[in-house]
Amino acid sequence: MKELLKFTPWKNTDTLVSLGCGSGWWEINCVIHQPAGQLILVDQDFQILKSEEVGESIVYFENTVHAKNKTAILIKNEDVSSLTLESEMADWILIFNALHEFNQISLVLKEAFRILKKGGQLFIEEEVSISAPLLHEGCGKKLFFTEELINLLVTSGFEMVDKKQKDAKAIYLLFKK
Ligand SMILES: C[S@@+](CC[C@H](N)C(=O)[O-])C[C@H]1O[C@@H](n2cnc3c(N)ncnc32)[C@H](O)[C@@H]1O
Repeated sequence: MKELLKFTPWKNTDTLVSLGCGSGWWEINCVIHQPAGQLILVDQDFQILKSEEVGESIVYFENTVHAKNKTAILIKNEDVSSLTLESEMADWILIFNALHEFNQISLVLKEAFRILKKGGQLFIEEEVSISAPLLHEGCGKKLFFTEELINLLVTSGFEMVDKKQKDAKAIYLLFKK
């Protein structure tokens, strides 16, 4: 958590949008530790991303971290390849462990580029293939090689800012618009 928040130093006035966030559990943990102005959680699955559970996660982390939530948290059940969010509204876009699962990655990156402010940042956490192509244990989809992922982002218009090995399987990548 400490390493991640050092890598993503958003301000307490920033708007964060997390794409393919699942239940938003991890993002809620992050903003309790490091508040933002607003956190918009986006996942198409109504069974996974629901307001009651988001409310319960907020209470859980407030109690475990001993800090009050100061971030406005909104949820959107929609397809990340066709977002209803306005252009240039986000200071940060977060994609935790979800990019390999999106069916139309180039459309998702086009949408991410559209909603990000000029100078805004895109953070990606992904498990990657190392020497041979690997499949994700959870969904069975192909995992990118790091260079393949970086090329994809750069050809979508993003500028690479930073890269960090998270652990034996996953990397953190940071890009700027
Ligand atoms: C591997 S899960 C990751 C969830 C969460 N970010 C995490 O790290 O635990 C990928 C998520 O992406 C969501 N997803 C996949 N395709 C999507 C799409 N086109 N639009 C919105 N959400 C999508 C799935 O519903 C799922 O919750």
